[in-house]
Amino acid sequence: MNQEQIDDLVKASHEAKKNSYSCYSKFRVGAALLCQDGTVIKGCNVENASYGLTICAERTALVKAVSEGHRKFKAIAIASDLSNSIITPCGACRQFLVEFGVNWDVFMTKPDLSYKQMKTGDLLPLCFVADSLEEERISQSA
Ligand code: THU
Repeated sequence: MNQEQIDDLVKASHEAKKNSYSCYSKFRVGAALLCQDGTVIKGCNVENASYGLTICAERTALVKAVSEGHRKFKAIAIASDLSNSIITPCGACRQFLVEFGVNWDVFMTKPDLSYKQMKTGDLLPLCFVADSLEEERISQSA
């Protein structure tokens, strides 16, 4: 990705934040997912009165993308309103990100559009993925 593409994705993540449904936490999060074919799919966090059913912005974007036929991704940018800190994905979202590869880019941003870039796999070391299911196993006794 060139700098212009990165900056556009970062801006799109902050645009996505505007639709955040976060009436309980008041913590707005947006995500912009760049698919391999150049499509950008946005997502926001969607909370629920039961609290536990909340869906994060990253997973919203991924589920939207996969349900529209996208499975290969170049990058995701994540945005929040934290003035002095980048927004980092929760554990569940890290697991969701590595499902689609350990070597694509995550841009964790601040409202001033600065960011930290990391690979999906580096955000979840020793992760359990589809290949893990194919490794040799001991035989089951029962
Ligand atoms: N949240 C996200 O959407 N993504 C993150 O990376 C961190 C947390 C949401 C979940 C909840 O709606 C709110 O932020 C506070 O945890």
